[in-house]
Amino acid sequence: MMRDFRGKGAFVTGGASGIGLALGRAFAAAGAKVMLADIEAGALDRAVADLKRTGAEVRGLVCDVSDRAAVERAAVATVAAFGKVHLLCNNAGVGGGGPIGEIPLADWDWVIGVDLMAVIYGLETFLPHLKAHGEGGHIVNTASMAGMVSPPGMAPYNVSKHAVVSLSETLAAELAGSTIGVCVLCPGWVDTRIVESARNRPSRYGPPREMPLAARERAAQVAALLRTGMSPDEVAARVMAAIRDNDLYVFTHPEMRGAVEDRFRRILAAYDKAAAFRP
Ligand SMILES: NC(=O)c1ccc[n+]([C@@H]2O[C@H](COP(=O)([O-])OP(=O)(O)OC[C@H]3O[C@@H](n4cnc5c(N)ncnc54)[C@H](O)[C@@H]3O)[C@@H](O)[C@H]2O)c1
Repeated sequence: MMRDFRGKGAFVTGGASGIGLALGRAFAAAGAKVMLADIEAGALDRAVADLKRTGAEVRGLVCDVSDRAAVERAAVATVAAFGKVHLLCNNAGVGGGGPIGEIPLADWDWVIGVDLMAVIYGLETFLPHLKAHGEGGHIVNTASMAGMVSPPGMAPYNVSKHAVVSLSETLAAELAGSTIGVCVLCPGWVDTRIVESARNRPSRYGPPREMPLAARERAAQVAALLRTGMSPDEVAARVMAAIRDNDLYVFTHPEMRGAVEDRFRRILAAYDKAAAFRP
């Protein structure tokens, strides 16, 4: 549980851009020491330099979070720099997809690697440290509305984000009564560079494929929606409040509630049908 961020150590993945950068900025403004970890070195250097100009205690670390050994090295470097880590934000994420049956396995591996496995690596690497120092802390996992509902055409993303919600729920149950809190952030559209995710695809997942016309059109629609989305700083302010209140679920787009209600209505109707079933 965290109410006072002053002097606390924070580790934020995907910290060079978008929501991660805004989280880093908010933590630093509240007095935390912030490590931004990201795969995009140029953007990371600029982010660190910008934050330093505000007087923040911030550092950058190039790290491919889908590489387990790289996350372990990042944890060692962060503890060496700050002594202790209290705030862990598993936030880096990429989008990609297409209809199931047409998704190259390398695309599944990449999206699940960054959006799900990296969250698991972050937890398995940092949680023992958070527990051991005993000063309490908070874990923020960035999922998405795609962790609550399952829109077509983005299965690897949906699958990963649902799993991140489940991981966070499990973790919150395991840490109940402890001094470590858990948030799962489930935003709708936020004005970031996520639609340009392929810019940071590690070469071991192979080159991005040439997108078919339908996928390019869909990406253009998503890009337009993102530009009308919430500002990352507003999302970060919401997360700060949720950490202080120790809220597990963090929603930023109340207008999307209907989609979740629809899903649960269909699930409950299926239970009614099961209850009424006579062989
Ligand atoms: N933008 C939205 O509308 C939206 C909505 C819901 C959830 N999200 C989630 O928010 C999180 C942040 O995304 P964003 O929208 O700020 O996008 P973004 O592209 O602006 O930022 C993502 C950051 O993650 C980094 N990254 C990508 N692959 C990485 C890797 N292998 N290792 C380390 N860093 C890597 C990128 O370099 C980038 O800096 C993601 O988990 C995303 O799924 C975004």
